[in-house]
Amino acid sequence: MSDACVHDSPDPPQAPPCTLVIFGAGGDLTKRLLMPALYNLASGGLLDQKFSILGVDHNSLTDEGWRDDLTATMESFTKDPSAEFHAERIDPQPWGFIRERLHVIQGDFAEEATFKDLAGRLTGNVVFYLAVAARFFGPVVEGLGKAGLLKQTDGAFRRIVIEKPFGADLASAKALNETILAQGDESQFYRIDHFLGKETVQSILAIRFANAMLEPIWRREYVDYIEITAAETIGVEERGRFYEPTGALRDMVPNHLFQLLTMVAMEPPGAFDAEAVRDEKTKLVTAIRPVTPENAVRGQYAAGREDGQDAAAYGDEPDVVEDSRTETYVALKLEIENPRWSGVPFYLRTGKRLAGRRTEIAIHFKAPPFTLFRGAEGRGLVQNVMRLRIDPEPGSATRLNVKRPGPQMHLAAIETGFCYADFFDPAPTVGYETLLYDCMMGDPTLFQRADTIEASWAAVDPLIQAWKDAPVCFYPAGSPGPKEADELLGRDGHVWLPLGEK
Ligand code: BG6
Repeated sequence: MSDACVHDSPDPPQAPPCTLVIFGAGGDLTKRLLMPALYNLASGGLLDQKFSILGVDHNSLTDEGWRDDLTATMESFTKDPSAEFHAERIDPQPWGFIRERLHVIQGDFAEEATFKDLAGRLTGNVVFYLAVAARFFGPVVEGLGKAGLLKQTDGAFRRIVIEKPFGADLASAKALNETILAQGDESQFYRIDHFLGKETVQSILAIRFANAMLEPIWRREYVDYIEITAAETIGVEERGRFYEPTGALRDMVPNHLFQLLTMVAMEPPGAFDAEAVRDEKTKLVTAIRPVTPENAVRGQYAAGREDGQDAAAYGDEPDVVEDSRTETYVALKLEIENPRWSGVPFYLRTGKRLAGRRTEIAIHFKAPPFTLFRGAEGRGLVQNVMRLRIDPEPGSATRLNVKRPGPQMHLAAIETGFCYADFFDPAPTVGYETLLYDCMMGDPTLFQRADTIEASWAAVDPLIQAWKDAPVCFYPAGSPGPKEADELLGRDGHVWLPLGEK
């Protein structure tokens, strides 16, 4: 690890004492992400001695049973290199700190009795985490509100973390905002987008606004087009029931991809504080011209080969209807109507069962206004491209032109860049550490505000409506996606960066 230019930063303060109430205690999210994140926070000494966890689940669980179950899951991660959290060993000290603070109660999320029971147990600061299916978001917040659990008295805070999906279109997102805001103030709601928990996504603002050599060229005069990719090799796995009515557009675009878009394209906020940052994000999303079907491609994976193995078609996955028209792939061309980006196309794509796993933003710069290298010597001339890599191998790579060694002046393209792991200790984090910590600290910068969410749905709503009965374009599993997506860029004389290579 190179640390030549890395300076130590002061330790972050410990979060204030609070109770974390997890609705959906026995669920997948609690096991896979929340517990590893809490363990990491405990390892870093960021949790107060009075911190405690109260799980709520509709199944009957005992404190000891839940503790044993979660301990076994944490241990299983050490043997599973594909787990989101992968540690060599579970340190008994921080895990013991979490384990002894775990308590659980049984309760139906729609029953008044559950919230009465909670009201009898909770005092002081509380974070309510809704790790439940989206249909429970409204009822749980209403239950909390009616039981008086969202009242912030004696300086104590009551905050609610809401997972995605937040609504399924503009109308339902608005309705959900209305329901929850009838029970509490906007400042109490922390709407999660886990992409914002990724260090490298947060770092986009640092790269843009802390580097004098980049900020001036981050605009239409110098940028030709921008690609945003979130490509996965996995299929829909066991999530068919959720995915069938959802599809790739709703699952990934107005949330994860738009968060990447805002980070790369928003104006510099007046200050690095939650409201200034979120104001700029909302302005950017509001400036997206509503997407039309002519500028969009929807695909679905057919049978193919992934990683040298046969991969089933989407229609043959569990809980998926055979002639399903749900899209597992989306490509979009977006236009942003503001002085910085007018005329610069933003191409977004996301999909499952693609040729490579890659989440990245690629900024393609224009050719220099005058080039000396027009003849044979200029044959190797390429456009500068800066890739901000989020997954895998977080870092960045920039394509530049140099002189090829030899007696003649001939150009060659090279790539220069860095990997985070070369400079920083790659602690095995799951991305939820910062989000949980920020919520306890009362910093909503990395959470979505009601207006940003609604503006995001508004941008894609015309497409959602137009796609109700639209056919899908098929692509073989393990391929780069449907050919129609290549045509979308081809119309503008552009091509996607390949997915398979580094
Ligand atoms: C989730 C989607 O929000 O994000 C999944 O529901 C998707 O379908 C996942 O696989 C991708 O997240 P990551 O962090 O693995 O890139």
